[in-house]
Amino acid sequence: MNLASTDDFDLDDYLRRQSSTVDQALEIYLRKYPGAQQTIFRAMRYGVFPGGKRIRPILTLASGELFGAPANRLLPFACGVELIHAYSLIHDDLPALDDDDLRRGEPAAHKVFGQGMALLAGDGLLTEAFQLMSDKDATQGVKPELVLALIHELAHAAGVMGLVGGQALDLEAEGKEADLATVEVIHVRKTGALILAAIRIGARLGGATEIELARITRYGEFLGLAFQIADDILDARAETAASQQGETGHKEQKKATYPLVVGIVQARERLGELLQLSLFELEPFGARSLPLAAIARHVAERALSTQA
Ligand code: IPE
Ligand code: IPE
Ligand code: MG
Ligand code: MG
Repeated sequence: MNLASTDDFDLDDYLRRQSSTVDQALEIYLRKYPGAQQTIFRAMRYGVFPGGKRIRPILTLASGELFGAPANRLLPFACGVELIHAYSLIHDDLPALDDDDLRRGEPAAHKVFGQGMALLAGDGLLTEAFQLMSDKDATQGVKPELVLALIHELAHAAGVMGLVGGQALDLEAEGKEADLATVEVIHVRKTGALILAAIRIGARLGGATEIELARITRYGEFLGLAFQIADDILDARAETAASQQGETGHKEQKKATYPLVVGIVQARERLGELLQLSLFELEPFGARSLPLAAIARHVAERALSTQA
C-alpha cells in the first residue's frame, strides 16, 4: 500500500467522530464536579470545554485502534493526556510565562478567573488526569501492571524531563539568541514528549510488539517535533500579518522558535522532511495506519503551504 496518498481517507469526518467521542468521555469523567457551583470547577471546565483540536487524545485512539484496542480501554488514558494538555495551556498563558490574553480566540483562563484561580485550575486538571488514569472502574479490563506503567510513562512525559522541563528551557531562552540544537531540545520536551506519550500509550494498550512499538515511537518523535515547528510557522505567519496591519499582536517575548533561528523557508523544509520520516515508519502497517498517516499530513500541511 502506498501511504504517499491518503486522499481516499476522510480525515475531517474521522477527526469529527473521534473528537466527539473524546468530548463525551471528558464530560462523563468531569461530571462529578458540580460545574456551576464552585469557581474552581468552572475554571477547570473552562480549560477543557470547548476544547481545541483534541489531537493528542485522537492520536491515542488512532494508535490504539491500529493494534485493535477498543475505544473504552483507550479513553481514560486519552482523556488523561488531554487534561494534562489543558492544564499546560492555562499555565502557559499566565503572565509569568507567555502572558497571552487569548487562547483559542477567547479570553485566557486567567483573564476570566484571575491568575490565582487559573493557577489552581491547572493544578486541578493535572491532578485529575492521574486520578482518572488510576481509577479502578475507568480502567477496568486493563492489567494493573500496564496501568501503572502507562501512568509512569505519562508522568515522565509531563514532568521535568518532558513538558515541565521544556517549558523551563523555553522560559530561560526568552529574549536570548538560541541555536538550532537548543530549539530542538525545547520543542521535543515542551511539546514532543506529550504527543509521543499519547501515541505510545495507545500502542501499548493495543498490545503492540516491541518492534511495532519502536516504529510507532519513531513516528511519534518525528510528529511531536513537526507539531511544534508547524505551530511556530503558523504563529510567525499570523504575527507578520498582524504587524502588516499595524496591530501589536500578543505580548509573547522573543521566543526560541524554528522560523526565528533558521528562517521560514528552512523551517518548512525541516517540517516536510519530518513528515516524510513519520510516514515512512507507518508503511509496514499498511492501510490500518491511514488515520495516523492522515493526521501527520494534516499537522504539517497547514504550515507547509506557502500562502501567507
Ligand atoms: C497548542 O497545542 C500548544 C502547542 C503545544 C503547540 P494545540 O494546537 O494542540 O492546541 P489545541 O488544544 O488544539 O487548542
Ligand atoms: C506551548 O507552546 C507548549 C506547552 C503549553 C507545553 P507555545 O507557547 O508555543 O504554544 P501556544 O502558541 O501558546 O499555543
Ligand atoms: Mg509557551
Ligand atoms: Mg504560548
